[in-house]
Amino acid sequence: MADQRTVALFDEFVEFTRSFIVKHGLHYNDYEAVLKYVISVGEAGEWPLLMDVFFESTVNTVSYGEGDWTPSAIEGPYFKEGAPHIDAEPFALPMRPDEPGDRLEFLGGLHDADGTPVEGAVVDVWHSTNDGVYTFFSPRLPDEYLLRGKLTSDPDGAFRFRSVRPVPYEVPHDGPTGNLLNTVLGRHSWRPAHLHFRVQAPGYRTLVTQLYFEGDPYLESDSCTGVKNELVVVPEKVEVDGEPYQRVAFDFVLQPS
Ligand code: BEZ
Ligand code: FE
Repeated sequence: MADQRTVALFDEFVEFTRSFIVKHGLHYNDYEAVLKYVISVGEAGEWPLLMDVFFESTVNTVSYGEGDWTPSAIEGPYFKEGAPHIDAEPFALPMRPDEPGDRLEFLGGLHDADGTPVEGAVVDVWHSTNDGVYTFFSPRLPDEYLLRGKLTSDPDGAFRFRSVRPVPYEVPHDGPTGNLLNTVLGRHSWRPAHLHFRVQAPGYRTLVTQLYFEGDPYLESDSCTGVKNELVVVPEKVEVDGEPYQRVAFDFVLQPS
């Protein structure tokens, strides 16, 4: 038995696309160009990337909803289940011995809209290296949980970690997605530097979000349209254990489930 919602959505999608073809007078040359393009996306294995670049931000916002909680942001294709729990001082994410990049200290808080702290939440953090790639997704890096980890919030809803400050990076741009962004559309494939978070706590909806850095040149033109103003942080220059660090503090407000 066909699922009626699927049938209705499919029919509306087809109707919408047919109207679009009529409205813009698309001919066989356009039709063939689209066919050639979608085949190339499949051959390059880039459907997940293309979908994340153009559509995930909308699905993400519609799914989590907007309200008096921290906005969600795209997960992207680079999350990896199974990151290690970081439960000992100084709560450093796993990294290579001379991991390049400015040192970062992150001080996080978790509470609900009434200000009640959320204890025992598990916070997955992941971000790219200083040259813009993620472990498990780049042949340049070992398949290890580097710059990835899980933190647990304490009775005050606090958690913290140390890492390196991420930098802007280009989504893969040597295939059809990059060709579309860079050549066909004349845009670019950069994302502003960001930290990814996934916050799981009993009684609350799982929050997947990202934080960005004030002053980043790509905040206004993120190739994945993932930036929301409430998610832009201002790092503070501090000294930690005698070394220069950039400190970021951010309070996440969770949405009850
Ligand atoms: C990311 O944030 O890691 C990402 C999002 C969409 C496409 C590619 C990467
Ligand atoms: Fe990312």
